[in-house]
Amino acid sequence: MRKLILAGLPALIAAACSPEPKPAEISVIPQPSRIIEGTGFVKVEPDRVLTVIDTTIGHPEGYRLMAENGKVTIVGGGEAGVFYGLQTLEQLKDSAGRVPAVTIEDAPRFPWRGMHLDVSRHFFSKDFIKKYLDILAYHKINTFHWHLTDGIGWRLQIDRYPRLTQKAAWRKVKDEKAPWIGLELSDEARQDSADTYGGYYTKEDVREIVSYARERHITVVPEIEMPGHSEAATFAYPEYSCPTAQPGSGIYCPGKEETFAYLERIIDEVIELFPDSPYIHIGGDEVDKEQWSRCPLCRKRMREEGLENEHELQSYFVHRMEEYINSKGKAMIGWDEILEGGLAPNATVMSWTGFEGGIKAANAGHNVVMVPLDYVYFDHYQGQNPCEPQAWGGFNGIKRVYSFDPVPAGIAPENVHYVLGGQGNLWTENIRTPEHAEYMLLPRLAALSEALWSDTTAKDWGRFERKLDRQLERYAARGWNYAESAFTPYIAEQRFDGDGSLVLRIATELEGCPIRYTLDGSAPTADSPLYADSLVVDAPATLTAQTFRRGRAVGCLLVVPQLLNRATRARVSYATPYSPAYTGGGDTALVDNRYAFKRGDDRAWQGFEGTDMEVTLDLGTVQQVEGIVLRFLQHIASTSVMLPTRLTVWTSADGRDFSVAADVPIAPDEDSEVLIRPFDVRFQAPVRARYVRVRAENRGTLPEGHPRAGAAAWIFTDEIAVY
Ligand code: ACM
Ligand code: ZN
Repeated sequence: MRKLILAGLPALIAAACSPEPKPAEISVIPQPSRIIEGTGFVKVEPDRVLTVIDTTIGHPEGYRLMAENGKVTIVGGGEAGVFYGLQTLEQLKDSAGRVPAVTIEDAPRFPWRGMHLDVSRHFFSKDFIKKYLDILAYHKINTFHWHLTDGIGWRLQIDRYPRLTQKAAWRKVKDEKAPWIGLELSDEARQDSADTYGGYYTKEDVREIVSYARERHITVVPEIEMPGHSEAATFAYPEYSCPTAQPGSGIYCPGKEETFAYLERIIDEVIELFPDSPYIHIGGDEVDKEQWSRCPLCRKRMREEGLENEHELQSYFVHRMEEYINSKGKAMIGWDEILEGGLAPNATVMSWTGFEGGIKAANAGHNVVMVPLDYVYFDHYQGQNPCEPQAWGGFNGIKRVYSFDPVPAGIAPENVHYVLGGQGNLWTENIRTPEHAEYMLLPRLAALSEALWSDTTAKDWGRFERKLDRQLERYAARGWNYAESAFTPYIAEQRFDGDGSLVLRIATELEGCPIRYTLDGSAPTADSPLYADSLVVDAPATLTAQTFRRGRAVGCLLVVPQLLNRATRARVSYATPYSPAYTGGGDTALVDNRYAFKRGDDRAWQGFEGTDMEVTLDLGTVQQVEGIVLRFLQHIASTSVMLPTRLTVWTSADGRDFSVAADVPIAPDEDSEVLIRPFDVRFQAPVRARYVRVRAENRGTLPEGHPRAGAAAWIFTDEIAVY
């Protein structure tokens, strides 16, 4: 099947980088179920597009689009089907407003095709939410999961509890709690957010947004977090947290009846605002239940209800909320932690920590929405270059997103229908502007849409890549800010040849565009050498590589410094051990010319837990040495990895007598952004040496104010170059 398609399209092998978009190509994302190509074109006149609803199409979201004999007809299985047919028509049009003669039959694989947005960590305007909905609709996404409340801010007007949306609670949480609720903000960003505090959506705003979404066949599912992730709310209304808890503890007290009354009144108002949503999302994730074990009211509740532990207390809480939500004719959905201590009888599970929770729930007869973080969390990095804006967690490139299948092995065939679909999640700890949100969303949403709409047999990465070439033009034409990360070159493989030369394979996620490089550190131009297949480096060099698309540099510049330096492949002995969890590749990690990206879990980092780093490099022969280059990672907001406090270098000709060549104190830098701090330590004068010893002094116990105060600091480094 796949071969046939490729054989039929020999001219399109240029993948995501054809010299010119081909006007005649049928290039629709997400891939329709069936395309029957005709010959010639149809000029689309707005008054010549006939739309009809015909339930024999068999699916309310399905449609048949026919472009023939000078007219276009869209038959929808329902209004949504007509709408999706019109979205497809938009994509078929060329710049002259013509579409190829074609018949398309199409229907979605899943009923829940979702995209989420966190508006708590950073607030996004009503106008941006509408733009977001436009983008979703264009990708045939039908569910907008609106994460309205979280630690940092409650963003929804609730008449009964006006203090929830008052600035004071928000400011207080932001100032006092930002680090430990995972908010990574520079002071500048903090100020910026404070100044632009639009605060919350009024009920009028919500009605407008819900109606805007309805016109685009999108259901808005509101999320009201409970019983955790509620710092701002418990600042505003401390009476609903445990009497033993600090104000703003972030966790409601299930020992108090008033807590339930309060949450039920909130749910009442939420249900009234979101009439289209069959679901109310109650969060339920990451609850630090430790607080409950210290609370006499919670302990009393556990005794009276025969609850064995805090997990069962959480389950009791969730059951009660579900009962209330069900009594109002709505279904409850929550993150997969609601499985802990026993799942509420009708609950739908949103499986985020992986597929496991979803598999368990589906096999127990519960509806499931799959949102596994290592596929569809769009707050993760989408590129592996330092140019990427600070992101959260790991790497979910577009290819990874495309590979997402909401139905994993492990769900019994008879339970597969419990999987309603999947969705992408966009948490905004690190995202404070609309442009940045769009950047994280696009083009990954294109990949997600195909994973949720198209049958697995209709998915084809090669074809998707070719289609994306056109899709990016469409984004640009609409003024949507998309990421070019998938065009950025990276080192896909490297090895040393027998003669000591270094063989590099450079790749991009989206293939087909020319990659040009230099070995002198200068930025490549359109005339620089073209990379092909592999690159052999046989002399000291700094490699730069850049992808060009239609003659223009696209994506970021790859820079790999200090290749084949004096220390490359030196023997390294360790006076302090590196962590077995962060080996960086073992004893050769610091001299393999392999560099890490700014993610703490990048496997090229070598980590030293609670100790200094002290290593001695044996260069093999006595030679003139003038200095060293190395770098360290620091990530205060979510790790214990800190810059060292001092860097000392010794040299020796014989491996016995070492003399100090450099001794550099390092000032602490408490910036909460991820830092990769390079050091170029040039000696006072060149020395003759065979051995170079490097010690980096550990920061020690983490200071007050650090999110992990009291813990031992780590040192992370990836490479030591000697020149
Ligand atoms: C989540 O990402 N904590 C649901
Ligand atoms: Zn309590």
